[in-house]
Amino acid sequence: MLHKEPALKVIAMPQDTNPAGDMFGGWIVSMIDLAGWVEARKTSCKRFATIAMDGIRFHNPVYVGDCVECYAQVEKIGNTSITVQVDVYVERTDGEKLKVTEGRCVYVALDENRKPVPVKD
Ligand SMILES: CC(C)(COP(=O)(O)OP(=O)(O)OC[C@H]1O[C@@H](n2cnc3c(N)ncnc32)[C@H](O)[C@@H]1OP(=O)(O)O)[C@@H](O)C(=O)NCCC(=O)NCCS
Repeated sequence: MLHKEPALKVIAMPQDTNPAGDMFGGWIVSMIDLAGWVEARKTSCKRFATIAMDGIRFHNPVYVGDCVECYAQVEKIGNTSITVQVDVYVERTDGEKLKVTEGRCVYVALDENRKPVPVKD
């Protein structure tokens, strides 16, 4: 997925660390959710809610100062749902680039009453 632009790019900051000084896994998961949503919105501008996340795997740690890049790819467009695969890479302060995390998000398109509606009209 590295050939495309990242859906999200952010610097890992000290406020998102655990007591040992490394980034919280939950912070990275929220970046995956945001990046997947950005990608899902390219397919449809409907309101989306995250119904499921799976396949989360932390391959390498994220450190303060890393440039975190989330690459997102639509995997499946269902009737009311879109499934997006997200791969997270970091560029370390010394320039090294490596994959740190991956996960899959499922979003459901909703109407104004929060009822599922078809992704595409
Ligand atoms: C989103 C919500 C309205 C969906 O209502 P629902 O009646 O549970 O949805 P449905 O059973 O009709 O399923 C909707 C779609 O999600 C898919 N889906 C449901 N559970 C799933 C799961 N565990 N994994 C993957 N896809 C799932 C269904 O296959 C369906 O997709 P399709 O229409 O493309 O086939 C409801 O579950 C909800 O409000 N959840 C909370 C969402 C939220 O607040 N998210 C933020 C977390 S704080």
